[in-house]
Amino acid sequence: MSQPSLYAVIGHPVSHSLSPCIHGFWYDQQGLNAIYGALDLVSSTASEDIRALARAGYSGLNVTLPHKMAAFEAASDMTKAARTIGAINTLTNTGLETDDRGWFGENTDWTGFLWSLDRVVPQLPEGAVLIGAGGAARAVAYALKTRGLSLTLLNRTEDKAKQLSDELDLDVSRVTNLDHIPEVCKGADLVINTVSLGHTGGRLTLPETANGVFVDISYGKAASPTLQAARQAGWQTEDGLPMLIGQAADAFQLWFGTEPDREAALTAARNWTAS
Ligand code: ATR
Repeated sequence: MSQPSLYAVIGHPVSHSLSPCIHGFWYDQQGLNAIYGALDLVSSTASEDIRALARAGYSGLNVTLPHKMAAFEAASDMTKAARTIGAINTLTNTGLETDDRGWFGENTDWTGFLWSLDRVVPQLPEGAVLIGAGGAARAVAYALKTRGLSLTLLNRTEDKAKQLSDELDLDVSRVTNLDHIPEVCKGADLVINTVSLGHTGGRLTLPETANGVFVDISYGKAASPTLQAARQAGWQTEDGLPMLIGQAADAFQLWFGTEPDREAALTAARNWTAS
């Protein structure tokens, strides 16, 4: 048998990442001669390390925090979406057949988010409330823009939300701070939270709703206090696990040209995170 092709997720820390389990699950399912590992890279040399991994013969990389900007710097070329969002989470080796080994960068966070959104909200409303204005919010905002939604942006630091709106040229009806969550989310059809407060014991408090949908892009323990409170207030909720599976599946598609079984991986991932 020929040498397996090499893939990995890079991050710091990276030991908690579910990506090796998700991709390994699909490699087994499809009988692929490929290995997917996890590489912990220190931040100070990340972009040079990423370039070295192309020369070392890695076929593809996924990139998690805090290296999405380093990946941006290390890529020789990238999609327009990755350039607009300002972050790369998927790198494909362009030159395995030549000596000109380098990375082509893509962002599958936004397409993964759309897959997760379409599962819970098949008929999208005209507008949504987006909470947060960091890197994750940029990918979500870009995704919502491609579907033509008008957005209300809420962020602790209002100026950062204004900057996000300007840089992505969003259709924004209002920008304000988190104090206005009760009033802005009352009557909203769709609220998306990109701020992870669960790690520090915090949670968002949403007003009561009759039929609103609330998506938190965190998952596991980080998301559960906020999701639980949202359900009690009547919201239909979804966590970030489907987005994680979606971004992984889109990277898999780019690398292997076949569709992996997303629903099976999502069911498996729910079991991995429950235990
Ligand atoms: P990510 O890639 O996860 O989005 P990030 O780019 O560091 O991470 O962005 C973090 C987001 O969480 C920002 O919207 C940040 O608000 P500020 O722009 O005001 O910094 C928000 N955030 C982080 N800690 C927070 C807290 N304790 N309360 C409210 N918002 C918080």
